[in-house]
Amino acid sequence: MQYLQYDRDDLVLENVPVRQLAEEYGTPLYVYSESQIRDNYRRMDEAFAGVPHRLCYAVKANSNPEILRLLAEMGAGADAVSIGEMHLSLQAGVAPENIVFAGVGKRDDEIEFAIQQNIRGLNVESEMELQVVADIAARLQRRARVSLRINPDIDIHGHPYISTGRHQDKFGIAMDVARRLITEYRDHPHVQLVGLHAHLGSQIAQILPYRKLGEVMYELASFTAQQGHRLEYIDVGGGLGVRYEPQGDERHFRHDWQGVNELAIEPKAVADALLASLRQLELPILFEPGRALVANAGLLLTRVLYLKETGGKRFVIVDAGMTELLRPSLYSAYHAIVPLQWREGEAIQADVVGPICESGDFLARDRRLPPLQRGDLLAVLTAGAYGFSLSSNYNARPRPAEVLVKDDQHRLIRARGRLEALWAG
Ligand SMILES: Cc1ncc(COP(=O)(O)O)c(C=O)c1O
Repeated sequence: MQYLQYDRDDLVLENVPVRQLAEEYGTPLYVYSESQIRDNYRRMDEAFAGVPHRLCYAVKANSNPEILRLLAEMGAGADAVSIGEMHLSLQAGVAPENIVFAGVGKRDDEIEFAIQQNIRGLNVESEMELQVVADIAARLQRRARVSLRINPDIDIHGHPYISTGRHQDKFGIAMDVARRLITEYRDHPHVQLVGLHAHLGSQIAQILPYRKLGEVMYELASFTAQQGHRLEYIDVGGGLGVRYEPQGDERHFRHDWQGVNELAIEPKAVADALLASLRQLELPILFEPGRALVANAGLLLTRVLYLKETGGKRFVIVDAGMTELLRPSLYSAYHAIVPLQWREGEAIQADVVGPICESGDFLARDRRLPPLQRGDLLAVLTAGAYGFSLSSNYNARPRPAEVLVKDDQHRLIRARGRLEALWAG
């Protein structure tokens, strides 16, 4: 958590007092540290330095155009899952040859767009989709660049909603089917098999799944080469996790949020585990980190509206909820919450909840917090990934604004949603 700290009693991001941002731009507000994103990218890139590689940033984690531009400038490619994400990536300056396109439900127009743009690879997720890609390419008189997304049946032992590489998950093609397709699609006039792809899931905190993935991909790549295909790359997906919870007993108190915002595993250890087998193939490696590049760079700022005690429980009601940050409601995810200005006094234990008309609308349950008053400002930490990008207009709430901080400078990178836009269609 290099760029976020308390200066005496005030929370400071890079060299900007966070309170100043809340006052200038209003709340709820997403705030990101540019230096943190740059550091994250460099660290990840260096981990793969020994082999030809490309980090294809998973756009879904945070698709703010300015953040995409920043990463594109540093050399990132893009892992897109919709025509919208492909457009955003192209507009941010990502070259088509550095864009891959995944997703179990690609529409025909999206496939056509990807073929026309000649992106690096369509990560095909089923036999039927491969047939559709071949048909569309034939109609366009093109040869589609395809990568088979395999389901390697590797369990990351994480939340079921973000595990994507087990045999019962909807993603990817089973190994036996992939082998058959690799044989059948040899010398196909409209499909060129250029890569193999897999993505195990998100918030991975162990090395072993990556090691196993390297082995599975190595074995399948060798088979693919024997069948006469000339693979151009291996795409190993993303998934590297980030620590959201502080360690220790005195959780989320000022002196004890070390550990929050660290990566769950060293990028170098992940790269080494993958490369233990894959290095021998001498093919470029694509890695698709999302969360690990942006999660720890972002904060969600929110203001305390009311304090309430009912049914033997204490609630802190704030102006951000599941519409701004869905992860707690969706996955029971933990986010550390800290005050922008520290107030001494006795700690309270409370649920931090939003204004949305759902009992499942909460940011924290039974959380120990410093004493709070109406009007106080709080920062929800580690909110840079799957925060704004999962936000919604539910309850007809305009989306929050986004601000990027660099040194002592800050700028608006997305204006707050306008009320009029809610009825403008
Ligand atoms: C295909 C693919 N690649 C990469 C990612 C990024 O995952 P993470 O943000 O955990 O790195 C995802 C996330 O869902 C994904 O579906």
